[in-house]
Amino acid sequence: MEACSCFTTSCVVLLLLAVQLTTCTTAIPCHQQRFPGGDTFVCVCNSTYCDTVEDYEPMQSGHFTVYTSSNTTGDRLTKRVYPISTTSNSTGSTVTIKIDKATRYQSVIGFGGCTTDAATINAFSLSNSSRHNLMKSYFSQDGIEYTLSRVPIGCTDLSTHYYSYDDHPGDFNLDNFSLATEDFKYKIPFIQEAMSVSRRGIKLFGSPWTPPIWMKTNNNYKGPGQIFGNPGEKYYKTWANYFIRFFEEYRKHNVTFWGVTVENEPMAGGINNYKTPSCYFTPEMERDFIKLDLGPALHANGFGDLELMMLDEQRYELPGWPEVVLTDADARSYVSGIGIHWYWDKETPLLKLDLTHMYFPDFFMLYTEACNGRPATLGLWAEGESYSQSIMENMNHWVSGWTDWDMALNLEGGPSFTGNLLNAPIIVDAEKDVFYKQPMFYHLGHFSKFIVPDSHRIPHTVDSDTKLLSIAFQLPDQHTYAIVLLNKEDQAVDVTISDPDVGYINARIPAESIQTYLWTDK
Ligand SMILES: *[C@@H]1O[C@H](CO)[C@@H](O)[C@H](O)[C@H]1NC(C)=O
Ligand SMILES: *[C@@H]1O[C@H](CO)[C@@H](O)[C@H](O)[C@H]1NC(C)=O
Ligand SMILES: *[C@@H]1O[C@H](CO)[C@@H](O)[C@H](O)[C@H]1NC(C)=O
Ligand SMILES: *[C@@H]1O[C@H](CO)[C@@H](O)[C@H](O)[C@H]1NC(C)=O
Ligand SMILES: *[C@@H]1O[C@H](CO)[C@@H](O)[C@H](O)[C@H]1NC(C)=O
Ligand SMILES: *[C@@H]1O[C@H](CO)[C@@H](O)[C@H](O)[C@H]1NC(C)=O
Repeated sequence: MEACSCFTTSCVVLLLLAVQLTTCTTAIPCHQQRFPGGDTFVCVCNSTYCDTVEDYEPMQSGHFTVYTSSNTTGDRLTKRVYPISTTSNSTGSTVTIKIDKATRYQSVIGFGGCTTDAATINAFSLSNSSRHNLMKSYFSQDGIEYTLSRVPIGCTDLSTHYYSYDDHPGDFNLDNFSLATEDFKYKIPFIQEAMSVSRRGIKLFGSPWTPPIWMKTNNNYKGPGQIFGNPGEKYYKTWANYFIRFFEEYRKHNVTFWGVTVENEPMAGGINNYKTPSCYFTPEMERDFIKLDLGPALHANGFGDLELMMLDEQRYELPGWPEVVLTDADARSYVSGIGIHWYWDKETPLLKLDLTHMYFPDFFMLYTEACNGRPATLGLWAEGESYSQSIMENMNHWVSGWTDWDMALNLEGGPSFTGNLLNAPIIVDAEKDVFYKQPMFYHLGHFSKFIVPDSHRIPHTVDSDTKLLSIAFQLPDQHTYAIVLLNKEDQAVDVTISDPDVGYINARIPAESIQTYLWTDK
């Protein structure tokens, strides 16, 4: 049996143990550090040291692999391999989970984060070697292998100032369109480096916040304001062509896109004194803009293959907003999916996702933004749990993937010229030339690393009213299965996962832990 290969001397000791435990790791361990205000450690990376995640492949038949991250055991995506049992050791208190391989639900698009100005400025505030470790942590085989990234078309609240790509009033041909310093210095190099360390590829999708102010009724980047005139008229046509110009300019740098959302949080453009750059659209305006301007412009300019996502707004707009857009045959013909933000999820029933899927099963739903809204705090386990819980709940209700907001913030949770300081999975300390990988990073990794694009969610049953959260997938090879379990309680839970083709996975999930189980039926 070839459990794994070990390269370093410290690993030899592990290898000896491995014979007995059939467990072994070649991963570089987390360098732990605790900070005031946190309830657990973060993992510190610098120019010469950064923890890694061991691959799950090749899978050994007759064995299962389990990755654990925990607030109680100190694990961070730690890999262990054990034999699959021919018997269940289930007792009264064991949670028994059965998968149903005969049915496949939605396919997975991917997991990732956003390349905001702030994230990329922070990444480039590090030395080349430290930044390279950051890029590898997110995108490479050594890391959690993001496959999805949102790219702002212009400024957001996580920028250092308001700007547009064409500040020449009346330039309806966009002759003076040009990308900003942020694109040349930070975003494009960041994306190029991400692509160069990725083996799986990265699906990029663009999202605009605001048009140039000369196109807007309030002559301002922030709300309340909308584009002059009506969809189908000159200003909306120019705004659609602005998307095209953006994609063309990025393509000159070999950065090609997978998708695009129509407008970030279109309702925000109706709010007074809201500093975030914005542009107001009602569902009817969005429908008509897609149908008369954006859809035709993308098709006429060779970008018809982009996955066009409507909404890019909170879950509470479901299913009403899609009903307005997708019951129009012309608008519908241009749309592939529905972008959703997580900010009011706790106040909004999951049923809205089920209804949207029931009415519009041909349109994917993708979480396009989520974040924990507080200034950077290092080492909060609960913020990791909030990410994994959101991913599990939403994907159990037909969502196909999940996109985090800022990939890297500074120690204050910025830079943000609007003062919208936040927390992020990676926090950068430029002065020390280090970055900190938070619990959020590892919770996300439990999905992004293993639930690769084109996996399918499959049904599973849980035999008790446990508080354990669970979700099951079949990977694209159709022989590898993955179950992610989240235990938020302060008690360990015994579980038995049964796959009739291979046997029983008898295991224990520690208190306050997340685990990804993987096995093959080949
Ligand atoms: C990076 O971190 C490692 C592990 O903590 C440490 O041994 C090493 O000295 C650090 N390197 C630098 C350049 O600070
Ligand atoms: C860092 O990388 C940039 C771009 O790849 C390069 O121009 C620069 O010389 C590097 N700096 C150092 C100190 O190696
Ligand atoms: C483009 O910019 C140049 C230089 O600022 C200016 O002279 C010209 O009028 C602009 N063209 C349009 C169409 O706005
Ligand atoms: C884009 O990719 C092509 C082919 O790989 C290469 O020849 C070209 O130099 C690249 N251009 C840029 C701007 O990176
Ligand atoms: C994580 O563990 C610490 C003790 O190390 C505890 O204070 C905290 O409540 C735990 N966090 C969660 C979310 O369970
Ligand atoms: C079942 O097996 C798992 C893994 O070997 C073990 O951790 C657990 O304690 C066992 N449960 C019982 C009730 O024996």
